[in-house]
Amino acid sequence: MSITSKALPVRDFDYVEFYVGNAKQAAHYYRAVLGFDIKAYQGPETGKRDCASYLVQQGKICFILTSPLSSSSEIAAHIQKHGDGVKDVAFETDDARAAYQTAIERGATSAYEPIELRDEHGVVVKAGIRTYGDTIHSFVERKNYNGIFLPGFVEKASTNGKASYNLGLRAIDHIVGNVGWNEMELWVKFYETVFGFHQFQNFDDKDISTEYSALRSKVMSNPTERIKMPINEPAHGKKKSQIEEYIQFYEGAGVQHIALLTDDIIKTVGDLRARGAEFISVPEAYYDTLTERVPELREPMEELKKENILVDKDEHGYMLQIFTKPVEDRPTLFYEVIQRRGSKSFGKGNFKALFQAIERDQALRGNL
Ligand code: FE2
Repeated sequence: MSITSKALPVRDFDYVEFYVGNAKQAAHYYRAVLGFDIKAYQGPETGKRDCASYLVQQGKICFILTSPLSSSSEIAAHIQKHGDGVKDVAFETDDARAAYQTAIERGATSAYEPIELRDEHGVVVKAGIRTYGDTIHSFVERKNYNGIFLPGFVEKASTNGKASYNLGLRAIDHIVGNVGWNEMELWVKFYETVFGFHQFQNFDDKDISTEYSALRSKVMSNPTERIKMPINEPAHGKKKSQIEEYIQFYEGAGVQHIALLTDDIIKTVGDLRARGAEFISVPEAYYDTLTERVPELREPMEELKKENILVDKDEHGYMLQIFTKPVEDRPTLFYEVIQRRGSKSFGKGNFKALFQAIERDQALRGNL
């Protein structure tokens, strides 16, 4: 075990901000398909001249969808290069200035210096550092703020009074980054040195490989293990690694998937499917050995099979998970829905079955 710095006092994920081509329409996808409420907005009508942002929320999950209003902005450049994708994985902290200062002293590169955002509901202090690719981490200090989200955002009146779409997604479990060839250790060190995170669990390419593609992955976590950030790098296989496909289409490193927690995965996934969400399917044979692998399984086998839900276990218990197809035309970001019954696993035992399924889709796109 390597020596890690004292952990930065970041408690939890605060929000994830996406730069997207059309935030107005993306917000409705998140609402109609994934069950988020469109809670707040900022844009020209609220005095923001250069971009428009929608806060979509479900349980504790806060996503900001932001679009530029002209071609001459850093947001437009990000979208031109990467397509729609994650810009900012923001963390909640009690002192954004101190977190930022410590991170910079430990070698992080600044994304933006501390700023105070104010409105009649108080003040939020934010500062940001860079991580892999063009992705950043903001530190968000909201202890002196009691508005709806962040200063500048106003409640989105047009969706008030409509039934909540909540599908049971309640919090972010983990956020996975894909980095380039042989870059995983560099980013592991970054999270150790700058954040004081520790390595949660690891597996090598012997564990996570199929006949065609492979990856290596390490999971970095804060001391409470509320924040979990797996980092993947491609490994050599017979054909192109799915991580390499991501890097090629995202044109760099970036967030690969966001795992969202539910307490009733069968219901959540059934509801998501009914609304049009598309999931990766698994080979029928996957379920033949499932009761042998996880004898304590409480969920009805037929339901799991019907919804294509995967199950994995470790010494703490078991977990259920499923992956969506990419939510853009570029094969980049996708979602995971996860229910934990004790297990701290990320689904290592499922990787082989999952990758075989992912690779079927990769082959269909002609990228294998
Ligand atoms: Fe995951």
